[in-house]
Amino acid sequence: MSEQTVIKRMAEICQLLNHYDHQYYVLDEPSVPDVEYDRLMQELIALETAHPELKTLDSPSQKVGGAALKSFSQVTHQLPMLSLDNVFSADEWQAFAKRLLDRLNRGGVKSTLDFAICAEPKLDGLAVSLRYENGVFVQAATRGDGTVGENITENVRTIKSIPLRLQGTSFPDILEVRGEVFMPKASFDALNKQAIKKGEKGFANPRNAAAGSLRQLDSKITAKRNLGFYAYGIGFVGALANIANNGDNVEESKSIDESWLANSHYQRLCQIKALGLPMCPEVKLLDNATQVEAFYQDILQQRASLSYEIDGTVFKVDDIALQQQLGFVARAPRWATAYKFPAQEELTTLESVDFQVGRTGAITPVARLKPIFVGGVTVSNATLHNQDEIDRLSIQINDTVIIRRAGDVIPQIVSVVLERRPENAQVIAFPTVCPVCQSAVLKAEGEAVLRCTGGLYCQAQRKEAIKHFASRKALDVDGLGDKLVEQLVDEGLIKTPADLFKLTELDVSTMARMGQKSATNLIKGLEVARKTTLAKFVYALGIREVGETTAANLAQYFLNFSAIKSASEAQLQQVPDVGVIVAKNIINFFAQDHNVEVVEELENMMSWPDIEAKNDDELPLKDQTFVLTGTLSKMDRNEAKAALQALGAKVSGSVSAKTHYLVAGEKSGSKLVKATALGVSVLTEDEMIALLNK
Ligand code: IVH
Repeated sequence: MSEQTVIKRMAEICQLLNHYDHQYYVLDEPSVPDVEYDRLMQELIALETAHPELKTLDSPSQKVGGAALKSFSQVTHQLPMLSLDNVFSADEWQAFAKRLLDRLNRGGVKSTLDFAICAEPKLDGLAVSLRYENGVFVQAATRGDGTVGENITENVRTIKSIPLRLQGTSFPDILEVRGEVFMPKASFDALNKQAIKKGEKGFANPRNAAAGSLRQLDSKITAKRNLGFYAYGIGFVGALANIANNGDNVEESKSIDESWLANSHYQRLCQIKALGLPMCPEVKLLDNATQVEAFYQDILQQRASLSYEIDGTVFKVDDIALQQQLGFVARAPRWATAYKFPAQEELTTLESVDFQVGRTGAITPVARLKPIFVGGVTVSNATLHNQDEIDRLSIQINDTVIIRRAGDVIPQIVSVVLERRPENAQVIAFPTVCPVCQSAVLKAEGEAVLRCTGGLYCQAQRKEAIKHFASRKALDVDGLGDKLVEQLVDEGLIKTPADLFKLTELDVSTMARMGQKSATNLIKGLEVARKTTLAKFVYALGIREVGETTAANLAQYFLNFSAIKSASEAQLQQVPDVGVIVAKNIINFFAQDHNVEVVEELENMMSWPDIEAKNDDELPLKDQTFVLTGTLSKMDRNEAKAALQALGAKVSGSVSAKTHYLVAGEKSGSKLVKATALGVSVLTEDEMIALLNK
């Protein structure tokens, strides 16, 4: 190949790969299968290896990281990187707005807050400044102290959504883009899972994970961390001549490049977006300040479902001329403020640890905490899961702990502040017998969980088994809530699920705090619950790891209860969803005398129709394997799965050459790409529904 041809081909590949990266990482719309992308990348790397002199700074091959650094050099920001003031309540926001207005009023600029406000989520990551010269990414720096930061160019180069070359041709010679590098929640979870598997500590939150990933001297590690970036502003803008001669034409050339900039902050973000940089999709231009509170509430509502972590909102006066009027105080602009959410992390102390026994005998350590207001509620308990988690946290009683409550997620202990460990700290000792029934406790091989061996002899397991039996997805006994089950067991009226059906109205109505009406309701509810379906009955038994779907599959496969009870391990494994472990759990359940006794009683007191075997023409999707991906809008995943299985289909979690159909909902990602590459038929949700109806 002549050098000209090589140059041309390399440019062609770079352009294609940049385009694919933008579609995949910025627009979230993958356009080509992975194999095609990889093939082009390999070709580029081969050409670059053969012609190192032709390798460019903005080559997509640079996104995999380069040689490790010894230390980070320093970068002096050409324009300082500012911070933000904070407000924490509607009143504080009003006070901020009033200060804005007073200042503008004093200058005679505005007398009402009727100007546009750019509203943005406050991203919880790290501020960085990206520098493009002639459209090519040349430098990235951390904020540091606002004046001098660290040179993290090589690490930022590996962030897939950051273009190494700007799109189009209309941009200033020098353009600094300011924004936040963050780790998406899903990447954070995956990274921590991996770390825990390897026996490492993991990161406390996505922000620390992003910081840790950016501070790697080896950019190959950063490349694997799947960081994201959203631009939220512009730093220095200028002409290269400025720098080169530093002479008389500075003002003139600067004005040429600044003229590129819109006079609205929101429009500027759109300009950066048009150059291929990611802009946070939740950013909104508000007509005036009356919409601020609604935006704050709206983003607060969305917080848990966003794919990235935020800790509040940011409001910025949109008009650049007004921003200039308002100016800065110390290190923050007067024209913007963060309006933060209530803290999701707080410090408190671990006062004691109780051990709870669950339905399957699992003994769970529960942290009793000094009550603390966090994430909008008062938290006084948190699960410590098991011994492994206690070891991972190195937690002791009386330690100061960081507690986190994000959205509706149950509170969790993130870490221990070891520097504050008091002298009276005590190691957490696991019980050597069940704390409820004193039976022996056992830890099965390969399991982190300690279990009580008491089975239904254990009052705690009994209560949980009965609660499960009566719960909504099982027999759904009207009038029988968890509290009432506890009371019935505590008062000695019932010991097993079968005892429920022996209760009389008199038994119940004479219980403490129980009226006649509630007693009548409960007995009626139990009467109704006696008639059920085979699948619900199997689920209600509470066999370990036999959830609703597995129970339905067992019912469908064996058609009647006797067949399930007497099935061999090998037969059980023929059922969709049932693997070695679940099969063993089922066998074990029916091997215990106390279970057999209760089950026999229940069989005599309850009824359900056997299932008629479906013949093959009722199973039109027999032997067809489906994979579901993306968000379905008309039915949820479980409904779709059950509907497909009812027609004989297998539903698998991953795409392979054996997959017959991929049902792709909205925002389908890698599975869709893989299915396309493998030539698997792809159905839309509507097409799947049409197939089900056929
Ligand atoms: S603007 C001139 N916008 O918050 C104002 N900052 O507490 C400069 N941050 O250092 C910042 N989301 O790291 C701005 N939408 C957003 C932001 C944001 C997160 C961070 C940024 C900044 C810190 C200040």
